[in-house]
Amino acid sequence: MGIKELQKEIKKLLKEKNAILLVHNYQRPEIQDIADLTGDSLGLSIEASKTKAEIIVFCGVHFMAETASIVCPDKTVLLPVISAGCPMADMITTQSLVKKKRDLPGVPVVSYVNSPASVKAESDICCTSANAIQVVKSLGDYDTILMTPDRNLALYTQRYTDKKVVYWEGFCPYHDRLTAKQVRKVKNDHPKALFLAHPECRPEAIDLADEVKSTSGMLDYVRKAKHTEFIIGTETGIIHTLKTQNPDKVFIPADEKMICIDMKKINLTDIVNALLYISPVIKVAEDIRVRAMRAVERMLALPRD
Ligand code: 13P
Ligand code: SF4
Repeated sequence: MGIKELQKEIKKLLKEKNAILLVHNYQRPEIQDIADLTGDSLGLSIEASKTKAEIIVFCGVHFMAETASIVCPDKTVLLPVISAGCPMADMITTQSLVKKKRDLPGVPVVSYVNSPASVKAESDICCTSANAIQVVKSLGDYDTILMTPDRNLALYTQRYTDKKVVYWEGFCPYHDRLTAKQVRKVKNDHPKALFLAHPECRPEAIDLADEVKSTSGMLDYVRKAKHTEFIIGTETGIIHTLKTQNPDKVFIPADEKMICIDMKKINLTDIVNALLYISPVIKVAEDIRVRAMRAVERMLALPRD
């Protein structure tokens, strides 16, 4: 089947099975184009928590499907390719976090949603790239916090708080590869362009940013901006939607090699098969889910900016 037929088949199956297709902003263009909702980790978690559909087909990576399973245990959550993971989420284990908590008694743990459900279960509150500063501010009574697993998100958050942010040594291999030297080179080639960076980028890249935003934050910003040229400091998959929504604006990847292999694993045929066979299902064990839910709910309860 060609792309159009596969897309049509997916639409038909979604209807028949009372399913919803949630798609992250980094997914392949032909998947983003048929999504019921495209978004960042925060937007997709909120949608998952509200949906009336019986089945959630999550086109993203493992931790995102797990988050959907945490917030809606009565729904069937499908991740069309089970091996679509997140290398950053794999840089932390529950055992190592439990040990770190022993070394830092009384220090609250803020875990980025890019973490396993079992790590969320050991955390006080979750955050995403869209709300990390707000989450840390909500922990008013503490002067020290532990942020896991992204070192760069923690260092970015540290800029906006007087609290001491102790951080985990995890990172996204694709965002962390963006150097100041590379950003300067692209800026030099496109002197009129604004540079938008994701908080997973290194501090040296963040220092050169005109704006620091989550993926959906970037989409919102560009839609409203009068400016017409942008250097995009995140995974290049977002450029498809940026171009679709803003056909008159120009987008330059900060580094063409910022391509997350895991985010590209799912294709249209995988989605058809997931819907036909209702597999692979992502289900978080109930004892872990209940504890992880507290951290996710605490985040979702915060007012949105
Ligand atoms: P967003 O929540 O900003 O979409 O980021 C998710 C992610 O995995 C970034 O690498
Ligand atoms: Fe994980 Fe980075 Fe891929 Fe996002 S882009 S899913 S943080 S590896």
